[in-house]
Amino acid sequence: MAEYGGVNSSVSVVDDVKARLDIVDVVSGYVNLQKAGRNYKALCPFHHEKTPSFVVFPDTQTWRCFGACGEGGDVFSFVMKSEGWDFAETLRELAKRAGVQLAPPDPAQEERQVESDRLLGLLDETARFFHDQLRTAPAAQAARAYVERRHLGGETVTAFALGYAPNDWRQALHHLQMLGYSQDEIVEAGVAIRNEKGNVYDRFRNRLVIPIRDGRGRTVGFGARALNPDDVPKYLNSPQSPLFDKSRLLFGLDAARRAIRETETAVIVEGYMDVMQAHQAGFQNVVAQMGTALTEDQLRLLSRYANRLILALDPDAAGMNATMRGLNVARQTLDGEGSVSFDPRGMMRYTGLLDIDIRVISLPEGQDPDDLIRETPDAWTSLIDRAMPVADYVIAQGTAHLSNESSYHERERAARELLPILTATENDLQRNVNIQTLARRVRIDAPMLIQWSQYRQAAQTRALPSIRQQQRLAERTARPDAPGGPPGHSAIREGFCLRLLMEEPERLYAANRKLRELQGGDPSLETVLAAMNVNDFSRPDYQAIFAALARSLQQDDADVFGFLSRQLSPELVVVVEELRRPTLESFQRRLSGPLMTELKSIQREQARINTLPEPDTSLFVEEALGLRHSRLERELQELYFLQEDAQEGAQGDDLTDRLYQAKVKAYTRARQLLAKALHQIRDLSREM
Ligand code: UTP
Ligand code: MN
Repeated sequence: MAEYGGVNSSVSVVDDVKARLDIVDVVSGYVNLQKAGRNYKALCPFHHEKTPSFVVFPDTQTWRCFGACGEGGDVFSFVMKSEGWDFAETLRELAKRAGVQLAPPDPAQEERQVESDRLLGLLDETARFFHDQLRTAPAAQAARAYVERRHLGGETVTAFALGYAPNDWRQALHHLQMLGYSQDEIVEAGVAIRNEKGNVYDRFRNRLVIPIRDGRGRTVGFGARALNPDDVPKYLNSPQSPLFDKSRLLFGLDAARRAIRETETAVIVEGYMDVMQAHQAGFQNVVAQMGTALTEDQLRLLSRYANRLILALDPDAAGMNATMRGLNVARQTLDGEGSVSFDPRGMMRYTGLLDIDIRVISLPEGQDPDDLIRETPDAWTSLIDRAMPVADYVIAQGTAHLSNESSYHERERAARELLPILTATENDLQRNVNIQTLARRVRIDAPMLIQWSQYRQAAQTRALPSIRQQQRLAERTARPDAPGGPPGHSAIREGFCLRLLMEEPERLYAANRKLRELQGGDPSLETVLAAMNVNDFSRPDYQAIFAALARSLQQDDADVFGFLSRQLSPELVVVVEELRRPTLESFQRRLSGPLMTELKSIQREQARINTLPEPDTSLFVEEALGLRHSRLERELQELYFLQEDAQEGAQGDDLTDRLYQAKVKAYTRARQLLAKALHQIRDLSREM
């Protein structure tokens, strides 16, 4: 068994795990693979399809869906996507499977792990206790009647493990103590409360208890509904804790995960009852935020499984109407703490950022999904089917007051108010569509609208660079690759790109601008020359770090590393630290043999470059284009594999024909364009 003691070897653990696993074995555990020549095909597990376009390539140990979702990657990304796990979880599981021992956690970490396992056990026992009460306790008669009145059937009670908290001060406490848990633990788990006098008593009393589970189905807290209408609050929840963090949890996710993945759609409602009623009626892709604003973490969590989110939230309570009334109100003032809530500008931003289709449904006045689904399930279905993309919703709401008689001035004002919201997306295509729609609605030329929105942007970017930016400019980084050299080894290049981004995440914009420019308006190049994204990185850990860096652009905190260390798991923070080291040593440590020779020449080159004034963004742009170039190479390789199979008559199927012509053309063209652009940039930087 390989063992990794040192912190620094986290990167090679990934490689080692990959080397010891066969992607075909791992994927077979999830999908029914059919051999097709050298490769394997299957129906894509990530979207619905009738003919297989999901391919596993043993030669490169990669997979790709050539159908609707167009995604691909290595064994890590496959498992992450299938299980909805994050990088750390995936690493743990795959390492176990590969027989690779991860660095033992330090004693403090180990202790925390033991503690949290114990708390989870305690919470599980608590749920069981309440559930048994609801099923059998004579005192739970009224609770059972309430469950019936709310039209929750036996299966739902079981599936959600609903329970009853007795109308008593110490029953849960005593039960748990009997099982061996200490008062301190019971208080820490939020099941009991200790008052100022030091008395300990049950938190939940005479309530219908709804266990809240994390995405993996572990009970992490409770929401408890008052049975007596006079009791406040109506819902008493477990206190906020690292284990029960409402901003990172979604009620019902564990039960909804499968349906969300199958329909690629997640519906977000407001309440516990809404979720349970929906699931009971067969709408199983429904989850709830729990009385707090929708957060970025929650959206991100869902975007792992879904490519469409439908918000079925009471528009007023959620702040949508408030936003629509005062379009210029900064979102912070609306929902505080930078949380997303239902703010349309935030939603537009996430649409582009997460590459996800966010839609809105307006519920009939005064109706919960709970009532609606129970009374008229068909109405629910048709509401969902007619959910409006958030941009259309914003346009409709923001121009509702206009009529045929509205003056130019009125129309201009509406347009100018809506533009910053509609252009908040990171997705250029979406931005253009939004502007076109708005143009039609306000009857003002799209070019004029574009001009207005660009004027705003220009005004924003003309500000002086911040002190932090100026400092960064002063501490330029050396590059690990010779200019004009061949596209380097991707791990080095990828790591270097990340480092440049860590110093100055805004560099990403320049690269994306360049890529867009290279598209030159040719729609067939939109995918191959799309904005930089996680797929430009071949390593799963780098992908996760890139994603976090892209996110860091969306927040105001100036400290990128602080942001990263909050956002990333400890395993990834180690990688960040490693990338951050100011010299090439960290790369060097990972290299051996022929790579070493290359590195020597790079280092010589570096010494020279360090003395040159370097145009700040072009360095990153160059590296980014290089990354894209190698990614296209990788993917093209897969296409060639497919074609070879077809020619060997393995399975001359339509997938190959369908894909091959157009794809290969786009890839080849994109590669040419990238190579040309790279030459130009390099020539330029040499002249300087
Ligand atoms: P609602 O008040 O809309 O609850 O709050 P509901 O689901 O319709 O409840 P019923 O139908 O009256 O039983 C929506 C959600 O907000 C949170 C809960 O998650 C609730 O499901 N909430 C509400 C609380 O956490 N505490 C409260 O006091 C009220
Ligand atoms: Mn309700």
